[in-house]
Amino acid sequence: MAIKIPMFNDSAKEEVKGKLLRELVSEEFLEMARDNTRPWRQLMSYYRCAMMEVETKFRVLNEQFSLQYDRNPIETIKTRLKSMDSIVGKMKSKGLPLTLAALEENIFDVAGIRIICSFPEDIYMLADCLLNQDDITLIERKDYIQNPKNSGYRSLHLIVDVPIFLENEKRLMKVEVQFRTIAMDFWASLEHKLRYKKDIPEQIADELAAEMYECAQISARLDQRMEAVRGRIERETREKYGE
Ligand code: GTP
Ligand code: MG
Repeated sequence: MAIKIPMFNDSAKEEVKGKLLRELVSEEFLEMARDNTRPWRQLMSYYRCAMMEVETKFRVLNEQFSLQYDRNPIETIKTRLKSMDSIVGKMKSKGLPLTLAALEENIFDVAGIRIICSFPEDIYMLADCLLNQDDITLIERKDYIQNPKNSGYRSLHLIVDVPIFLENEKRLMKVEVQFRTIAMDFWASLEHKLRYKKDIPEQIADELAAEMYECAQISARLDQRMEAVRGRIERETREKYGE
């Protein structure tokens, strides 16, 4: 009796490949997690603490500005801890050994905090305020506002070392801080969706990317004009009340 071997079409093959790949990543991750469960959870908790420290610093700055100048430079603060799958995926793509030491030494965006402002000048003011604090060390600075990415992406990225104080020790942890205006954030979230939609035909994806590039130029001009209006309002108020 002949045995029938089912034939896979291309999309079924892709599905099986994807499933195997996902299982491989999780299998490797599980292996690392089995060996390191406690140290892994401890390290993630340190990153969460570091994120809280940096978040508090920005909340304090916002509070102080609202008292002193009657305005809040920060619209929103978002924090996120990178997921285990993304960490393992990034380490594999960089060819790193799956160890906690390699993770700490090479992956600087496990703890991420996003500061969303109304105006670009507030971004630089807040970044300076953070970097002037004597417990903060700058590791890396990428200014995609002055030098936008080819996609049109704009934001200011800092990687900083911040100390966390544990029961018996002080530990320096890396945190990635991304500063954006509301307009930059609006743009980046839509462009991020486009980037991860894999089922859009190439030609349409290219057209949409070109459209998003143009939107980025428009949003940059909007930021400049809104900032200019705010500047004028402040000058007018100062002149009128002689403040
Ligand atoms: P990775 O940290 O490995 O991603 O590489 P990198 O350090 O060169 O990246 P970079 O600091 O330039 O950007 C890191 C983060 O910025 C990403 O995870 C995104 O959140 C954001 N980002 C960078 N470029 C873009 C972009 O073109 N579009 C969008 N939507 N977000 C971007
Ligand atoms: Mg990075």
